[in-house]
Amino acid sequence: MATLGIFDSGSGGLSVYRELVKVLPRERFIYYSDNAHCPYGGKTALYIQERARFITDFLLGKGADIIVVACNTATAAAISMLREEYPSVPFVGMEPAVKPAALGTRTGVIGVLATAGTLKGSKYLHTRGRFEDNVRIAEHVGQGFVELVEAGILDGPEAEATVRASLQPLLDEGADVVVLGCTHYPFLRPVIERIAGPGVQVIDPAPAVARQAQRLLEERGVPMGEGPFSVELHSSGDPAALSRIFKLARIMP
Ligand code: DGL
Repeated sequence: MATLGIFDSGSGGLSVYRELVKVLPRERFIYYSDNAHCPYGGKTALYIQERARFITDFLLGKGADIIVVACNTATAAAISMLREEYPSVPFVGMEPAVKPAALGTRTGVIGVLATAGTLKGSKYLHTRGRFEDNVRIAEHVGQGFVELVEAGILDGPEAEATVRASLQPLLDEGADVVVLGCTHYPFLRPVIERIAGPGVQVIDPAPAVARQAQRLLEERGVPMGEGPFSVELHSSGDPAALSRIFKLARIMP
């Protein structure tokens, strides 16, 4: 049985966890929410690297065969450092799905919603550079999205107003594809899709990331598929936030 360690600044990584469970339904999952230090979005890379090191040690101590950095911001700030410092550990990270968006747009404008940390990360800037000759890339920080999800507010007037304030500028620029570049944002997808309307495609890279984790485990020859399925939830802060999203998103084990 494979043990997958997953972490995020909070509950957002559960949007990746639920895709992992679909492709790997008989493995062991250890999820770490760093909600005492959430949000990561405006923190320095150095701060996030320290947290990533601490959490990686925790997950490896629990027997993780692979670490899924289920956070775009932590991936941008820390995954190169983690790969360097833990060369024998496979890491899977998140990146805004610019490529599929660039292939899917008809207007030639794609919108990227992410945290400030992700949007200024060198990985994202490099990817953007590869595509911006062919498509226009409009960006916006999902201001207040992470806080909504952590508070368990996934719909209703407050969620609508918050989402609209960051999404409307992208729609006004003509984006017909919107990339969810933060793992918290898929929990607001129904609101995002309602505001964007049927002509706008919303892309969440989590299913592709889950398949990548499965591929890496297979490559390493980690035995899989024998079960039983199990999940452990850990939080550095109040554990209520995490179990709330578990229930709201109906991803109870
Ligand atoms: N879920 C995160 C991400 O994917 C982090 C959000 C935050 O803590 O600001 O970027």
